[in-house]
Amino acid sequence: MTKSSDVARRVVQLRSAGVALILDLRSDGLPTVVHWGADPGPCDRAELDAMADAAVPPHVINLIDGPVSHSLLPENHTGWFGVPGLSGSRSGAAWAPRFTVSAAVQEGRRLTVDAADPSTALGLRLAIELTGSGLVRLRTSVRNDGDDDYRVDAVSPVLPVPDRAAELLDLAGRWSRERQPQRGPFNIGVHLREGRRGRTGADAATVVVAGVPGFGFRSGEVWAVHTAWSGNHRTWAEHTGEGFRTLGGGESLQPGEITLRPGESYRSPELYYGYADGLDELASRFHRHLRERPHHPGAPRPVNLNVWEAVYFDHDLGKLLTLAERGAEIGVERFVLDDGWFHRRNGPDRGLGDWFVDEQSWPGGLHPLVDRVKELGMTFGLWFEPEMVSPRSKLAVAHPEWILRARPQLPPASRWQQVLDLADPAAFDHVLARMSAVIAEYGVGYLKWDHNRDLIEAPGVHRQTLAAYRLMDELRAAFPGLEIESCSSGGARVDLGILEHTDRVWASDCIDPLERQTIQRWTSQLIPLELIGGHVASGVSHTTGRRHDLAFRAITSLFAHFGLELDLTGLDDAETTELAEWIAIYKRYRALLHSGTLVRDDHPGTGRWLTGVVTPELALYSVAAMRRSDEEPAGRMTFPGLDPARHYEIRLVGPNRDDLGPRPGWLDSPARFSGATLATVGVRLPTLRPETAMLIEVSGGPSSNRPPVSTLSAE
Ligand code: DGJ
Repeated sequence: MTKSSDVARRVVQLRSAGVALILDLRSDGLPTVVHWGADPGPCDRAELDAMADAAVPPHVINLIDGPVSHSLLPENHTGWFGVPGLSGSRSGAAWAPRFTVSAAVQEGRRLTVDAADPSTALGLRLAIELTGSGLVRLRTSVRNDGDDDYRVDAVSPVLPVPDRAAELLDLAGRWSRERQPQRGPFNIGVHLREGRRGRTGADAATVVVAGVPGFGFRSGEVWAVHTAWSGNHRTWAEHTGEGFRTLGGGESLQPGEITLRPGESYRSPELYYGYADGLDELASRFHRHLRERPHHPGAPRPVNLNVWEAVYFDHDLGKLLTLAERGAEIGVERFVLDDGWFHRRNGPDRGLGDWFVDEQSWPGGLHPLVDRVKELGMTFGLWFEPEMVSPRSKLAVAHPEWILRARPQLPPASRWQQVLDLADPAAFDHVLARMSAVIAEYGVGYLKWDHNRDLIEAPGVHRQTLAAYRLMDELRAAFPGLEIESCSSGGARVDLGILEHTDRVWASDCIDPLERQTIQRWTSQLIPLELIGGHVASGVSHTTGRRHDLAFRAITSLFAHFGLELDLTGLDDAETTELAEWIAIYKRYRALLHSGTLVRDDHPGTGRWLTGVVTPELALYSVAAMRRSDEEPAGRMTFPGLDPARHYEIRLVGPNRDDLGPRPGWLDSPARFSGATLATVGVRLPTLRPETAMLIEVSGGPSSNRPPVSTLSAE
């Protein structure tokens, strides 16, 4: 067991994976950050003290007299005029706390700081941890020690970043175009990304990154914050112009949403802070952290066949059985029946809440399909949207009081639906019972858990979010092995809060591979590939109308949890054979793809994007032509992330086509290069047409007897 030690009145250094967090606890005030960034190595007490002294800013006329230093939860009394660390009051009073630390205990890389302020009658706990992968995890609890109510408006802990972090990057987006990067200077003021949609949001920041100017995937110091919460939330970067740049996050509370009665506490969502050299190293810290969780999916991620874009609401047993059979023949391992199976749900405006199998479409229940799916050796997954209700459903008619609303009138409908008040125990129990009954009856192993609208005029988003988490937990506890996919009109619920309760995220409703390259590239800034659903789409995208070859669609889906979402009955024999080959390729590489280190690179002049997953022995890279190149032939492609001292053989995995034009020599005769050569000198690739991709394997060790010419066939 880790020994705990009392570290009050000391400078504390937490170290992990090349990162250090050094906190000054020598005063009786809240801890201030001496350093968050690269680990200087173990420091003795004298050096830590000297470091903390050297971090104190000089006096500046017109600021408060005396040294100015702000804590993790900045308070007004230290001369802090930025986003207040704690906002709240007792009917307008007690809004400016001055906390005094009562205890500070270190257990390994965890530090728990307890503080109180008698004048505002508040207690505070800061739980700070440096994880094994070097992320700072921070959680704040506020306790009402007074005799009257205390209203919490915002809890806003921050970590400071140095002034060389002069550029910001975060993500934005919309439905079917989630997680698009945006960059800009770190100017004075607050760059606030606030989500008030009652869910994470298609437009969520996901990460707010501050870095040295020009930082990229492979290099450049970056500091980042993520708010692990699936309800209303805020994530921001603030530059005060008075020597402080901070990154912060927290829940975005509705007015009066959290009112603490005497003795009650509020616990903020966890914040994750990452420091790294380059965005790839930052991503790898998040990935490693998620992979180290005891409940991280360990078994190979099965090939999913989701039938949504094949049948939509048209549930015809014969067609679904054919899809299941064709899927099984080409290597599908899990069959997922999407929206449309329950009571009267033959369109998007009805049925939600009535979680009974529709007797008209399914006179024998789902059994004929489920039995066949299982007979074919696949597991069965089913779509639910547990937090929603259609206004004309039986449930809504029987229990109008379960519809979440702020006034007698309903909020505006969105996607023809309303939100069920899951924080109402009766509504919660009803949904739990119905879902449990269906899961038990059909032996459902996988839930696609959808959430298709923003919450409007919805009181109690905090409670609603916690209730959704609890519903997931209760189902997982009742059905061991049950996996849950977090979907929300595509990728509107992608955060580390939901991933504590689910097993993967659906990145977007858009499965056009050109769009998916961007969406998956940036979703993977936070989330490892095995937790991101990526499906091979139809040749003509249903969301964009663009047409792409199968190789581009399949290669794009490989860099995710691979699956299919197209009408297999519409494929000719050649396409079916090629699809089976891509499935085999996924199976061959999935252990690598789902455990290795992600590397990404841009080649702006040619519009080529490199995405790779690397281990010292083996790497798989995709090169995607995102647009027509400015120059032909394109220059050499370099392959980052390999062991520089090792020798590797490079070969094209696919596509195996003769329209690739004149072939560079390495394609036809085996060539070996050191990792250093591949990373710095690189090789020419065949010419790529716009909106196509190629897949390249780089394998280390003694020269293998692999066939020199690329082949699509599985081993
Ligand atoms: C939105 C999801 O993202 C889709 O994949 C599909 O499940 C539909 N909802 C069903 O209504």
